[in-house]
Amino acid sequence: MSSTEQPTITSAYRAVGITFGSLVCKAPAMMETLRLAASAAMRDVAVLLLGETGTGKNLIAQAIHNASPRAKGPFVSVNCSAIPDTLLEAELFGAEKGAFTSSDRLRRGKFELADKGTLFLDEIGDMSPIAQAKILRAFEYKEFERVGGETTMHADVRIVAATNKPLEELLNGGGFRTDLFYRLNEFTINVPPLRVRREEIPLLVERFIAENNERFSTRIKGVEADALTKLQSHGWPGNVRELRAVIKRASVSSTGENIRARDLLLTLAPETNKIAPPAVASPSVAGDMSLASLERSHIDSVLKQTGWNKKESSNLLGISRPTLDRKIQEYGLTRPGGAASED
Ligand SMILES: Nc1ncnc2c1ncn2[C@@H]1O[C@H](COP(=O)(O)OP(=O)(O)OP(=O)(O)O)[C@@H](O)[C@H]1O
Ligand SMILES: [Mg+2]
Repeated sequence: MSSTEQPTITSAYRAVGITFGSLVCKAPAMMETLRLAASAAMRDVAVLLLGETGTGKNLIAQAIHNASPRAKGPFVSVNCSAIPDTLLEAELFGAEKGAFTSSDRLRRGKFELADKGTLFLDEIGDMSPIAQAKILRAFEYKEFERVGGETTMHADVRIVAATNKPLEELLNGGGFRTDLFYRLNEFTINVPPLRVRREEIPLLVERFIAENNERFSTRIKGVEADALTKLQSHGWPGNVRELRAVIKRASVSSTGENIRARDLLLTLAPETNKIAPPAVASPSVAGDMSLASLERSHIDSVLKQTGWNKKESSNLLGISRPTLDRKIQEYGLTRPGGAASED
């Protein structure tokens, strides 16, 4: 790309403030993960971050960028699951003026915007095989054309990708191209789930309480001993994201100086990663012991408990917002008397 074509880099494209030092890390498994990530940061290799939802992959991707020689360049993030196939090509590679009936101006793609920086391909496991084929060449040769354009463009981009899909699922019939996987797999890093780094729970709780005190002007000092025991024995299928949501809710509902065990709304049984049977089966599924009916009741009960706050519900359930929306539709769940809140 010539200097006149250099896009303006705004703060929105920078991974502001997130460094390895700003991440909570105490457990040996997490220390090893961050050691590997820091070592990858220094070398210009493609990095693939694997780990369950909510384990911190987005934060680690930003820390890698900030610790890399590209730190002064842009950090550009693309959520591959949120963009339909038809738009992904234009999103990644840009589109010339007039490429679409609606495009009255040239649009730069994320590859171009990430020149001399890092391109973070989030939820890469959700990318369709067609989209994968389109990006493979850009990965391989760092060259691409804008949609509707003929000039081959070059961008000096370092790729960091992440997925919460298990590797076996991706490669064994999961629709992920092995050639793209091997290209991305120059340096794979596993981010451990929270249940194998429980010693970090007190530190994370402290961090989130401080965050909430600032945000809600509360003065919570900590958690009572039995509340900490409850947190330590939970299964955390939604990992750190779930813990953060639980502490946020508890900070708001707590009336005293310390968070009590009863302020903690844990939706799943302790020490389990599976969906627990609901306390009261909804009338429509009573007697039906299929997993789908249990899932329906469980989602329904979480939505009720959060007053149909979808963001909080998806956090507590450990699933993404689009997945929650899909399941609400699939199971025909409706909010009694009004629209759901998004936040
Ligand atoms: N080590 C950590 N220290 C502090 N906060 C953390 C840490 N790890 C995760 N978090 C917090 O947990 C939440 C989830 O992290 P993040 O979005 O990076 O997860 P993820 O692995 O990308 O999840 P997903 O697969 O669903 O995209 C964020 O709010 C983040 O602030
Ligand atoms: Mg993520």
